[in-house]
Amino acid sequence: METVETDVLVVGSGPAGAATALALSTYGVPNVMVTRYGSLADTPRAHITNQRTMEVLRDLGVEDQVTALATPQPLMGNTVFCTSLAGEELGRLRSWGNDPLVQAEHELAGPSRMCDMPQHLMEPVLVNAAVSRGTALRFHTEYLSHEQSDDAVTALVEDRLRGDTYRVRARYLVGADGGRSRVVENAGLPTVGRMGVAGSLNIVFEADLTHLTAHRPATLYWVLAPGATVGGIGAGLVRCVRPWTEWMVVWGYDLDAGPPDLTEESARSVVHRLLGDDTIPVRITSTSAWTVNHLYAETYADRRVLCAGDAVHRHPPSNGLGSNTSIQDAYNLAWKLKLVLDGTAAPALLDTYSAERAPVGRQTVERANRSIGETAPVFEALDLLSTSDPEQMWRNVDARKDATPEGAKQRRRLREAIAAKVYEFNAHGVEMNQRYVSAAVVPDGTPDPGFDRDPELHHQPSTRPGAKLPHAWVVRGRARLSTLDLGGHGRFTLFTGIGGGCWAEAAAAVRRELGVELATVSIGPGQEYEDPYGDWARLREIGDCGALLTRPDNHIGFRHPEASPQARELLLGALRKILGHG
Ligand code: FDA
Repeated sequence: METVETDVLVVGSGPAGAATALALSTYGVPNVMVTRYGSLADTPRAHITNQRTMEVLRDLGVEDQVTALATPQPLMGNTVFCTSLAGEELGRLRSWGNDPLVQAEHELAGPSRMCDMPQHLMEPVLVNAAVSRGTALRFHTEYLSHEQSDDAVTALVEDRLRGDTYRVRARYLVGADGGRSRVVENAGLPTVGRMGVAGSLNIVFEADLTHLTAHRPATLYWVLAPGATVGGIGAGLVRCVRPWTEWMVVWGYDLDAGPPDLTEESARSVVHRLLGDDTIPVRITSTSAWTVNHLYAETYADRRVLCAGDAVHRHPPSNGLGSNTSIQDAYNLAWKLKLVLDGTAAPALLDTYSAERAPVGRQTVERANRSIGETAPVFEALDLLSTSDPEQMWRNVDARKDATPEGAKQRRRLREAIAAKVYEFNAHGVEMNQRYVSAAVVPDGTPDPGFDRDPELHHQPSTRPGAKLPHAWVVRGRARLSTLDLGGHGRFTLFTGIGGGCWAEAAAAVRRELGVELATVSIGPGQEYEDPYGDWARLREIGDCGALLTRPDNHIGFRHPEASPQARELLLGALRKILGHG
């Protein structure tokens, strides 16, 4: 049987697999990516692309391509609650960084803007860049099984075009094969939770809805249509794919009854019910069924097999975290693989992948599922749960217009219930506040500062080891750069300032001693980079002559508040620890 050799076999070409392949190829690591089907995602699926993910794409050099194709942030931001798109509006929530106060927090938090990038557009960008940088991509190729030895993992894959099987022998295998991951199953990774909590249908369609949407631009229009299903609330979601002509409806189905066999006619009728106007021409382009899951893996790795994306965290689309968390898993993993494969780091560095990303995956799963439950108060405020009679439901919805104390109470409850959905639609902290604790982070002995404000809603920058490097605009000549642009690029970076010469010397010595790629950056008046706004000085939490060491993923690995005669020993010790030699 034919055996293909590579350093890393990536199973899956979704956001997790494609981003892993892209980062590996960017770092010069030979890799093969196999995917079961003959094409990339053919439906919009995940779409919200948050700032942390845009920072990853920026570092990997594809941010501009994504921004050019995506729907920009200002068009995402009015989550609308209505009885149908043409019907009564019940309220709006400023979302996805479009509340002016939250917008300021986004501006301050990073150089990149959140956007709406449907998965069928995102995957080609990631995959094209990966392939153009060296990834060997095999379509129609299904992973079947694997076995591990001390120095390799050998996977059996099937070429579905030819119908035969062959082996891929790699130093590491990345299982990015999605929510029904066979890699996770074969690797026996322990999982918590369950699949199939609820059933959902996606109906993708084309219709010019400019007259119903452009004046209140949004990614999501929530339709609460009393009586639209027999004996219940017809709650559905109309999601913008491309403003304002391509759309997707998400509609629940009863899991016990199984997914309905949607004909084009019945799909169009669901769409028309949610639009509230059946004269609008609608062209159905696809329908698909999926389930809401609540499951996460407790550990993401079994020796040479490391898993990422939906394979290890499965949850509903609420909060738009699916592909974001997947791409960020990939970014955390790729540099570690590179350094272990080229011998700079010990294999122990790979243990920190699970230690750092599994808590994020768990938080993602729990937040997304909690957000579903937090929609109930909107129904309760409209008194839609106390009856199954559609006419009574409409009367209950109308009662909010009454000039009575009950009417006033209902109005207040509805406003509060919609406002509380901020935890789903404007949860900047959930998106930004990942702080890692692992052997690849050297504690500096300072206590955990915690969060001054609600950590789910607000981003709080920190340079405490484990946090992501705070963003500040600095300048070099006429160029304006983010501090995040100075780090990253697959290498470690040492940040210091005036009086920090000992750290620059230490970095040169450490580079020689460990053979590690380590850039140095000095920020301050007369230095390589200037801090004209004083933002960096405010954010860095160390003195001018102190040091911050960022890892290739721009998370802080080590910091020291001031200059030190032991700078070389301190930096050497820190890097040894991060690289798993300590
Ligand atoms: P993803 O599922 O994207 O990719 C898995 C990859 O593995 C695919 O390339 C597949 O071909 C490949 N693969 C699987 N088994 C294989 C095997 N044995 N051998 C080789 N290749 C294999 N999210 C959201 O936020 N909003 C939404 O509306 C939706 N809607 C939605 C609809 C549908 C139908 C699905 C399936 C998913 C969604 N999602 C979603 C979820 C979102 O798409 C998801 O979070 C990300 O795609 C996760 O990215 P991954 O790369 O981990 O998996």
